[in-house]
Amino acid sequence: MTDKVAKLVIGDESYEFPVLEGSVGPDVIDIRSLYAKTGMFTYDPGFTSTAACDSAITFIDGDKGELLYRGYPIDQLAAKGSFIEVCYLLLYGELPNKQQLREFEALVTRHTMVHEQMHYFFRGFRRDAHPMAIMTGVVGAMAAFYHDSTDINDPEQREIASIRMIAKMPTIAAMAYKYSVGQPFVYPRNDLDFASNFLSMCFSVPAEPYEVNPVIARAMDLIFTLHADHEQNASTSTVRLAGSSDANPFACIAAGVACLWGPAHGGANEAALNMLREIGTVDRIPEFIARAKDKNDPFKLMGFGHRVYKNFDPRATVMQATAKEVLDLLGVENNPTLQVAQELEKIALQDQYFIDRKLYPNVDFYSGIILDAVGFPTSMFTVLFAMARTVGWIAQWKEMIGDPQKKIGRPRQLYNGSPSRDYEEISKR
Ligand code: SDX
Repeated sequence: MTDKVAKLVIGDESYEFPVLEGSVGPDVIDIRSLYAKTGMFTYDPGFTSTAACDSAITFIDGDKGELLYRGYPIDQLAAKGSFIEVCYLLLYGELPNKQQLREFEALVTRHTMVHEQMHYFFRGFRRDAHPMAIMTGVVGAMAAFYHDSTDINDPEQREIASIRMIAKMPTIAAMAYKYSVGQPFVYPRNDLDFASNFLSMCFSVPAEPYEVNPVIARAMDLIFTLHADHEQNASTSTVRLAGSSDANPFACIAAGVACLWGPAHGGANEAALNMLREIGTVDRIPEFIARAKDKNDPFKLMGFGHRVYKNFDPRATVMQATAKEVLDLLGVENNPTLQVAQELEKIALQDQYFIDRKLYPNVDFYSGIILDAVGFPTSMFTVLFAMARTVGWIAQWKEMIGDPQKKIGRPRQLYNGSPSRDYEEISKR
């Protein structure tokens, strides 16, 4: 709380509202009493100027292009940390010491297997089902298999549900991939780290031994870290809203998966690679830049722009460097898609339309190039995003459930439909 107040004058009435300040970032005007005092609502579709909660997990400074997980800059965590360490940090607020990290990693590792009956659950899907459709269904169904960790008022059940979500999402994601390619499911291996285990479950086959490439595993681990959390984005807000009704955590995460799927959000990584492939060669870039600027054309440059970042998305910067490293390692020199991406970025950032609107590459612009080079089909890209974001969703859900000020989310509206009118008999219509 500050001693600052916001004054609102409506007609000849004047109202005052307290201004609250956080540790960093914009202050907020506490308008919780606005309707009671004025009989009016605020109006902010898309929540461009609305803080829906207070949180201590992730901070973004869009103008500086800064992203902090519990205060630690994303580029430092990406360079020096690991995804499992970032999971601990997001969940518990501090970096773990060696013993805490070892115990946490062992706990997650021991929860990577899914209930054997889940294998039969998959068999109801068509083989050509989009893996995100499978994820949305299977994650929601987890409440049917793990009903002993759905009581959100029991801190122990909340904790075990959190660990189960983080640990089992890779297994479910890998199963969704294996099912789509008609290969047998591969069980998790407790001797592998998080990223290596995921690669093994996706790409190993019973017919021969599988060796994880450590550089690829490191790149995947980095991609998971970059996607782990991102403040109150659309899917996280969906998880929070679902959780505000005391829905079980599996149902809340399933709601987040569904929202993330949209091409304006997490689905952009799949759409961005498809767009880069459609452009195909550098000489076709001007045609697509023109389409992106044409108000009569719904086409947007996928992987560009962001509600918060009006500078470089720091994740895109790390992702671009990783893309080059992985492609070099795989001997995929002169990857045409990477060349198109780099040239498109250069041209767009010199174009006044993009400059005026502060449109920069976001996290989804380069990630698909890496995932494609590693061997994932584009339909799996958003699944990987959901897998990594699960820890962020869970951390935000736990923070909300534990908030003594928690209330069910119930926005109001500006109504412009018909005023009250009487029913007319059909004979008179
Ligand atoms: C993610 O919120 C998060 O943090 C999300 C995320 C996370 O980690 O959770 O960061 C992950 O979702 C990243 C964003 C991925 N989406 C895309 O790459 C899809 C393409 N981008 C756009 O759809 C758009 O930029 C959004 C949805 C990302 C942001 O939209 P906003 O904030 O509502 O901005 P806007 O649509 O109002 O755009 C402002 C102007 C408009 O032009 P004018 O009406 O002012 O003339 O910029 C234009 C838009 O038409 N614009 C674009 C554009 N993005 C915005 N024009 C061309 N290409 C684009 N990509």
